[in-house]
Amino acid sequence: MKVTVFGIGYVGLVQAAVLAEVGHEVLCIDVDAKKVENLKNGLIPIFEPGLTPLVQRNYEAGRLLFSTNAAEGVAHATVQFIAVGTPPDEDGSADLKYVTAVARTIAEHMTEPKVVIDKSTVPVGTADKVRAVMSEKLKERGVDISFDVVSNPEFLKEGAAVADCMRPERIVIGTDNPDAIDPIRELYEPFNRNHDRMILMDIRSAELTKYAANCMLATKISFMNEMSNLAEMLGADIEKVRQGIGSDSRIGYHFIYPGCGYGGSCFPKDVQALIRTAEHIGYQPKLLQAVEQVNYQQKYKLPAFIQRHFGEDLKGKTFALWGLSFKPNTDDMREASSRVLMEQLWAAGAKIKAYDPEAMNETQRIYGHREDLELMGTKESALHNADALIICTEWQNFRAPDFDVIKKALKEPVIFDGRNLFDPERLEKRGFTYYGIGRGA
Ligand code: UGA
Repeated sequence: MKVTVFGIGYVGLVQAAVLAEVGHEVLCIDVDAKKVENLKNGLIPIFEPGLTPLVQRNYEAGRLLFSTNAAEGVAHATVQFIAVGTPPDEDGSADLKYVTAVARTIAEHMTEPKVVIDKSTVPVGTADKVRAVMSEKLKERGVDISFDVVSNPEFLKEGAAVADCMRPERIVIGTDNPDAIDPIRELYEPFNRNHDRMILMDIRSAELTKYAANCMLATKISFMNEMSNLAEMLGADIEKVRQGIGSDSRIGYHFIYPGCGYGGSCFPKDVQALIRTAEHIGYQPKLLQAVEQVNYQQKYKLPAFIQRHFGEDLKGKTFALWGLSFKPNTDDMREASSRVLMEQLWAAGAKIKAYDPEAMNETQRIYGHREDLELMGTKESALHNADALIICTEWQNFRAPDFDVIKKALKEPVIFDGRNLFDPERLEKRGFTYYGIGRGA
């Protein structure tokens, strides 16, 4: 089946590559000519496990095509995905200018009926806007061609995007026209074989499902972070509490890991966007506001521990920092806790020697050259002569370090662990001062 995907960002590229992998003929359109050229040369703009060979293999097989030519994209297929970004605008609402621009482009060039699938995370009511924009354009052209707008939110996680997309837990389809479902069924048939993962609903419910899912997960995290603050003050260990409650199958173990705050391109943006949506319709979303506030505060947790330990003024201090990306297996640093941490420590006069397995280039891109930031080639080299070690991201190879090496390299054996990777008792026995999250520091 032929498919066109507008927007070669995270979601668009992964979805396109996975659709090509099962045999569809996918044409990706993007306005960024450099990105398109790079993709044709096998250069993938993001770090995502398994994505590079997947894209290269399907490009070489001629099933995955890249172009900047929107007219060609519209002519290519009946099914047209919109997978462009919806960045927050000034007040945190999702900015729909790229989504509506693609809708207008499709209407400008279409000569036969289309099924337009909204993959981007868009506020409730966007499908109506897409429909209105397209109708207006068609009217302007003086043509009457039918089309459907369908909401099909994406639930992939960075770092596991290819696997999530290959084996989706659910395929949410929102449509007000049952006839629009047939081509979508055919499209997703390879992913839907053994049992039906398709959940059909009206468009607005599908749009809200995406936000509700991310907001629920963010709520779980902020809840645990709030519990961790209580645990700390009450002399309890949040890691014991986590296991104690996770064993209740109604609660479960997923997404109840306390830490130094959630980041990334989705949770912070989507929680904020749903808050704005609610406020626009006159509803005060108190729970979501609290989720956001707790997360904001949580990012200041490690800097507060550090200043409690070393004093407010950190001039002359150097810290080893392990982990810069907002979570493991990605180089993405959007809304990463490491950024708040570094900026706080710099403001207090400290220097940082940082290491991340993937996000070094990204850190360089964001912060450029600074006297107070040294990017190190290995996690061990970051330790040398540092006053303490700070951990912001739970990369696998941080989990079992050689503590003797750490102790020898640091000026003082202090670890500030934003992801609770280690056992406080064992570390204390080895002579470390250990600060974890919610562990009676
Ligand atoms: C999230 C959702 O998990 C995906 O289902 C969704 O499709 C995606 O957003 C999206 O809307 O595109 P992602 O942002 O890639 O995916 O990352 P997550 O794995 O959800 O992690 C988000 C943040 O929460 C990270 O900073 C992570 O460290 C933090 N987290 C996660 C915790 O602090 N504790 C936990 O228990 C779990």
